[in-house]
Amino acid sequence: MAKSKKRTGERELHRKMMELWERGQSELCEVRGSSIHGRGVYATRAIVAEEMIIEYVGETIPKEESEKRGVEQHERAVTNGDAAVYIFNLSKKYDLDGNVPWNVARLINHSCEPNCEAWAKGKKIFIHSLRDIAEGEELSFDYGFDVECYEDHPCLCGRKSCVGYIVSRTQWEILDEKLGRGKSSEKAS
Ligand SMILES: C[S@@+](CC[C@H](N)C(=O)[O-])C[C@H]1O[C@@H](n2cnc3c(N)ncnc32)[C@H](O)[C@@H]1O
Ligand SMILES: [Zn+2]
Repeated sequence: MAKSKKRTGERELHRKMMELWERGQSELCEVRGSSIHGRGVYATRAIVAEEMIIEYVGETIPKEESEKRGVEQHERAVTNGDAAVYIFNLSKKYDLDGNVPWNVARLINHSCEPNCEAWAKGKKIFIHSLRDIAEGEELSFDYGFDVECYEDHPCLCGRKSCVGYIVSRTQWEILDEKLGRGKSSEKAS
């Protein structure tokens, strides 16, 4: 009796894990080696503008825990230049930490000309296309990094309008001032 109860419990756990795993996958994209950095995520078929591509899954955590993880992440960034950011705002009380192996979307690289954006829908985050994307194109979004620590995060997106650093587009003007150069936004398409 106890043994069969244990087996049922294990099967239920396995089913839940498979469900979780599947939520982090999508037929519209897959992981491949990237020319930008390490691994990236690529479209497996043509995608139209504003199409939902993949859910950004992870662990739902209270804001206090999220702040703690954010500080730890910042410390890692200072010591080894690891610019990874996985935490998204979900609500007043909760954030989503996407740093889990079954979250394929965590491997999407940053670009100064991104073709995707993360949109919240209820208590979930989805990656959507900003424009039509061709089969085989790498998916990207704006990591939205603060300009204050721009030097720690050189950008290798290779786009015509690349500003050289992973910095939120909303802060490009400040970056240009810091670097004493003309307006980057005018180079952008
Ligand atoms: C969330 S991970 C993305 C997946 C990563 N390519 C990998 O293989 O693990 C974020 C890391 O990718 C790298 N990265 C992402 N976009 C980049 C870019 N445009 N230029 C240079 N490095 C980038 C940075 O090192 C950043 O810390
Ligand atoms: Zn760039």
